[in-house]
Amino acid sequence: MPARPPIVAGNWKMNLDRAQGRALAATAVARRHEAASTELVLCPPAVYLDTVGAALAGSDIGLGAQNAHDKPSGAFTGEVASAMLVDVGCRYVILGHSERRTLCGETDAVVNQKTKAALAAGLVPIVCVGETLEEREAGRTTDVVATQVRGSLAGLSPEHIEKLVVAYEPVWAIGTGKVATPAQAQEVHALIRRILGELATPAVANRVRIQYGGSVKPDNVADLAAQPDIDGALVGGASLKADDFLAIAKAFARA
Ligand code: PGA
Repeated sequence: MPARPPIVAGNWKMNLDRAQGRALAATAVARRHEAASTELVLCPPAVYLDTVGAALAGSDIGLGAQNAHDKPSGAFTGEVASAMLVDVGCRYVILGHSERRTLCGETDAVVNQKTKAALAAGLVPIVCVGETLEEREAGRTTDVVATQVRGSLAGLSPEHIEKLVVAYEPVWAIGTGKVATPAQAQEVHALIRRILGELATPAVANRVRIQYGGSVKPDNVADLAAQPDIDGALVGGASLKADDFLAIAKAFARA
């Protein structure tokens, strides 16, 4: 069994209101023992980070944002800097999610700048990569994912690479109910770890957590969690229900 501590993060996206977010966080705290050995992270909409952070106070559940800007301050209307996220209690930030790559035009170069800024501010970036259905069907998965990992993490020191989390999220599996098979996911996770080994060292790559994301549910998580290079999950839809989120976290918990 690898020594990597499993990590499961809930990406709430643009869902839940303040009261619902507070209640979900409080439930996660109350039932945290159900998945004691899994690192847990909740990523609410930015406007609720303070509220959810307060509900998590005193627990070891981490608070994460869904995005951050790459500059520390300035005239960037509507944006939030990594240091501001740290200021409200964040320890993590999701970067380069496929929805942001597609809807907001975030390129690997942009994700790279954001990743560097987040690390400099002391956050743990959860850097997302993944191919579209068209790319998979054209046999380009390896190329696409390798390019995204190399581009998003270019120029990072091995020390920084060791701190971050990579999330492999095939775009065709996000919010579609279509999950990658455990073998498909494992193959890409192993590829990502090989590339991390080239960018840092194999020993460092062996310590980096790689999450799978895309329609992870309590009834499909067990086989994913059993794969040697799948170290946790980035969960969208199922993270909005405490029962489902905790069941997924439990599936990754080490005995
Ligand atoms: P999903 O989303 O679990 O709803 O497929 C995952 C994600 O986008 O992080």
